[in-house]
Formats: sequence, C-alpha cells, structure tokens
Amino acid sequence: MRLCINIDHVATLRNARGEMQPDPVTLALLCEQAGADGIVVHLREDRRHIKDRDVKLLRELLTTKLDLEMAATPEIIAAACNILPDLVTIVPEKRMELTTEGGLNVLDNIEHLKDAIKELHKHRIEVSLFIEPDIEQINAASDIQSDFIEIHTGIFANAGSLEEEFEELEKVRLAAKHAKKLGMGVNAGHGLNYQNMKTFRNVPDIDEVSIGHSIIARALYVGLPAAVKEMFEVMKTS
Ligand code: PXP
Repeated sequence: MRLCINIDHVATLRNARGEMQPDPVTLALLCEQAGADGIVVHLREDRRHIKDRDVKLLRELLTTKLDLEMAATPEIIAAACNILPDLVTIVPEKRMELTTEGGLNVLDNIEHLKDAIKELHKHRIEVSLFIEPDIEQINAASDIQSDFIEIHTGIFANAGSLEEEFEELEKVRLAAKHAKKLGMGVNAGHGLNYQNMKTFRNVPDIDEVSIGHSIIARALYVGLPAAVKEMFEVMKTS
C-alpha cells in the first residue's frame, strides 16, 4: 500500500497570516524525503488553501507523484491541463464545506464526468474519481474510462461502533475487489489516522492511501519526517 500525503492543511496555516510560512512546497519535499510515495493537493476554485504558485512549484520539484484533487469545472480542468499532474482526483466541491464531504455521484453526472476524463486523457493525465464504496458508482466510473477510483473512507473512519466500523470496512473491501476486477487502480482516503489504519491496513486491493489531517497534526508533536515514518510503521500489515 503506497502512502500519498495531502498537504492542504500546511497551506491553510500559511494563509492564516497571509505570509509565506509554513511553506507547503518545502514540507512536501520533506514528506518525499521521509519516504512518501506522492503528494496530494486540492486546488479549490476559491484557492482557500493551495495556490497556483504552490502547484506550479510542486510540479517542478516533486520527484515522486503529484495528485491534483479538484472539482471538474472548466476553469480547474484547464488549470490541470496546464499543470500536467501525474493524477487528477475528481471530487465534489462545495464552497462552504470544511473538507470534502463525500463521494461523487458519478451516475447523476455521467456525461459531464465523461467529458472531463476525455479532456484530461487528451493531455495524458490519469484520472481517479472519489466515490463511495458502492458497486453502481464503481461500474459507472469504469464505463467512463476512469483509471482509478478513490474510495471515500470517511464513514468507516467516523463509525460510532465496532459493528458499524466492520460493516463499512466490508463495503470498502468488496468495492476495492470489484474495481480491481474491472481493471481500475484503487486508492482510498478521508479520515484515516494512526488508530484506524491498524484495521484498514488489512484490506486487500488498496493500491494507495491519501492521508492529510492526521499526519499534519501529528507532525506538530513529533516533526513531519517522524510523523510520516510512524504512519508507514502502522501501515505494515500484521
Ligand atoms: N482524499 C480526498 C478525496 C480528500 O478530499 C481528502 C481531504 O482533503 C483526503 C483524501 C484526506 O483526508 P484527511 O485529511 O482526512 O486525511
């Protein structure tokens, strides 16, 4: 299982003072040096955390992989085709949300997403769709030539009981297996942390996890390289 680190929260902290520190680009490079397999940034329409300058520098400096999380709007698709990330992860985006709140409804937006994927493929950019662990959504993602899915793990992460956690994990497990059978890569993310990873790490068929908040929060206590290494330790399957 590969680990990609979302550094949006570093940009949020920087922007709180409108100054240059902490610099998300420098810290992304530190994540890479600590072994991260890639960096994820969400370029929002309102640029509330990651800025165009950050993405441009990341594209230039990263030696692993740049995963650009984004909404499928014309302006952001054009920006992606200019930046040329290794992967675009399409997410639903609402202005007022604190973070991405759930998966895309691929079935309800099939033509729009199909066109977005076509455009990104024209620029040789691979595409992932952030969706719930739902078989119909996965089939729709496959129908429109998505290269990957990213399974939303937020419901698993926020489960109120062991029973609910088990049920959600089972949905993720079946979803990942199904997507693999259809030939897609399988990423997962949202709410994964040092505790729930002890359970999550046993799910087969997950190629990559995308983790932000828990690692950046842990970094305040132990430093970023140590926080990244601790997560790799937890990710090792038992
Ligand atoms: N994957 C997606 C699609 C997301 O929107 C986010 C949150 O930015 C993450 C993964 C990472 O979630 P977290 O910050 O809870 O680890």
